Amino acid sequence: MSDNGSKQHKRVFSGVQPSGNLTIGNYLGALKQWAREQHNFESFFCVVDLHAITVPYDPADLRAKTREVAALYLACGIDPDISTVFVQSHVRAHSELTWLLNGITPLGWLNRMTQFKDKAAKQQADSVSTGLLDYPVLMAADILLYQTDAVPVGDDQRQHLELTRDVAQRFNHMFGETFTIPAAMIPPSGARIKGLDDPTAKMSKSITDSEYHAVYLLDPPNRIKKKIMRAVTDSGREIAFSDDPERAGVNNLLEIFQAFQGGTKEEVEAHFANARGYGDLKKEVVEVVTEGLKPIQQKYAELTTDAGYIDNLLADHAARAAEVANPTLELVQERMGFLKARR
Ligand code: TYM
Repeated sequence: MSDNGSKQHKRVFSGVQPSGNLTIGNYLGALKQWAREQHNFESFFCVVDLHAITVPYDPADLRAKTREVAALYLACGIDPDISTVFVQSHVRAHSELTWLLNGITPLGWLNRMTQFKDKAAKQQADSVSTGLLDYPVLMAADILLYQTDAVPVGDDQRQHLELTRDVAQRFNHMFGETFTIPAAMIPPSGARIKGLDDPTAKMSKSITDSEYHAVYLLDPPNRIKKKIMRAVTDSGREIAFSDDPERAGVNNLLEIFQAFQGGTKEEVEAHFANARGYGDLKKEVVEVVTEGLKPIQQKYAELTTDAGYIDNLLADHAARAAEVANPTLELVQERMGFLKARR
């Protein structure tokens, strides 16, 4: 059974960690596609709080950010009448399937993950948690529980998706067809937004030591302007897309412009053909980003006036998610040879 019996439409699953302020990278790489694809797939959008405890964190922040991220999903256009929006830790099957998949995931596969190596390198060796290494198995459990067909994510999640597919195939091979093999869905533009202060590094919500690194979805217009006007560029004048690392700053600004505004690369370059320099480019990027975030910020403000709304919705939707996840977990338990608990 590679399909859950009750599956009528192809499924999408994706998530964001509530580990900082969501950035325009998260929006362009993930959330913007989710809002579009929810009309084509049965969709599950999860706030992945269990992932957020794999690096040092503050418990009060985690709770606050979990609500904030859920509200931002809706503010970015996720419609709770057609998509399921829930918190990972509210559906116990995520933790449980992780343990079961740990039993069949070779350690060598996890040691090769570049995100693990990067994140581990930033910490003292003796404070790197086991959870950080095991992170991709939890992510595989998230995806596989819903018999997911497609996973809309930014480019940095490509390797984790490959691992998910490998784990699913290994399980199916060892215990019989059980899981749908999911595919990554990566947008053609906006999948790799770079830091404004360092255009060679990924824009990340967890970098907090530089004020000018990222535009956050809830930044007011004056902060958006300040951050973009200070973005690192180069000493040239030509406004064109480029793979040259020396010109990564301008390329990144053009990517951001294109992802918000739409159009082809050629159209974007033509738009700036008469610009007088990078100052003009930056001003236009400020404008499209500010305009693009305005409706999200308005919706967020409306949604959060009623303190109970998000919590109630999360409770309802966790129950909906569990109805899909639990049968998969039970099937896995049976296939792996666990004695069924008598209830
Ligand atoms: P996270 O929280 O780091 O990022 C959430 C989503 O945003 C995308 N993203 C970006 N896209 C473009 N440019 C950027 N600079 C940028 N930064 C982040 C990410 O690719 C991601 O799609 N492991 C995941 C969360 C996760 C998950 C899952 C995702 C847990 N379980 C199951 C999909 C399916 C993560 O850390 O995302």
